[in-house]
Amino acid sequence: MEIENKSVLVTGAASGIGRALARSVALRNPKSLVLVDLNQAGLEETKAALTEGGFSLSLEVCDLSNGDAIKVLAEKVLSEVGTIDILFANAGISRTGDLETSEEDWSDSFNVNVMSQVRLARYFVPKMIESGGGYVVNTASAAGLLTSLGALSYAVTKHGSVAFSEWLAINHANDNIRVSVLCPMGVRTNMLFPPNATHSDEENLAHRSVVESGNVKDPDEVSELVMEKIGAEEFLILPHSEVADFYSFRANATSKWIKSMAKYQQSLLG
Ligand SMILES: NC(=O)c1ccc[n+]([C@@H]2O[C@H](COP(=O)([O-])OP(=O)(O)OC[C@H]3O[C@@H](n4cnc5c(N)ncnc54)[C@H](O)[C@@H]3O)[C@@H](O)[C@H]2O)c1
Repeated sequence: MEIENKSVLVTGAASGIGRALARSVALRNPKSLVLVDLNQAGLEETKAALTEGGFSLSLEVCDLSNGDAIKVLAEKVLSEVGTIDILFANAGISRTGDLETSEEDWSDSFNVNVMSQVRLARYFVPKMIESGGGYVVNTASAAGLLTSLGALSYAVTKHGSVAFSEWLAINHANDNIRVSVLCPMGVRTNMLFPPNATHSDEENLAHRSVVESGNVKDPDEVSELVMEKIGAEEFLILPHSEVADFYSFRANATSKWIKSMAKYQQSLLG
């Protein structure tokens, strides 16, 4: 699907990959662009970073971990902007931690990384279907295809995001709904390089396992690849080509894959 003359919504648009997606969309003459995030100041910065265009732009502050807030957001957008043709459900959080991960971290991770995508689709996809079709791009992670060292809730919820995307793609293919899931390894954003990192052992493990296993990509490079891949309607968007090899290794020799990952973890822990 092409962006030109489409109504587009991007979540997590105040920073990182979401800001880059907003910039890439703005370059392609959309009809309207809705940017959603918790962080109002960041949304204003994204607005300032967009190229001027003849499209309508709205900034919406919303806590996407909250189902009621998503309902209010969807009702407002559908009445003021109309049907969204292309939904980028990109907002996500990363909590490091192992079996001791708190209930609160589990709940936050599940609500943002999985349920915000499910809830956004619940409100926007039926309207897409009514209007003849649409496109959903969920941002998961390579952690959703493989795993994530030192970040248990992230690995599990990103698998949930991939599973939801696959379900949506299959169950609504005949309604002319197309779906992609973005699964990068390292991308240079606040998530991977948090300004106030405490550098706990788990944070170090999670961070090093990502930055030492492949190139850290620039968010603009990732967003431009996303534009290309949705143009071609490809389901799996892998900015790091090695992820396809790891994914295939995992599928074809799972026990060996697990042993090799455990060895990798040991080498990082020293
Ligand atoms: N950076 C990486 O290396 C990397 C790798 C793989 C996947 N991802 C995924 O990419 C997506 C974007 O992350 P990023 O790297 O740009 O990080 P980021 O921290 O720069 O951006 C995430 C954005 O999501 C917003 N957000 C978080 N919780 C929210 C909530 N409850 N309500 C509304 N907005 C909320 C944040 O305010 C922020 O603007 C995430 O889903 C992340 O898991 C990132």
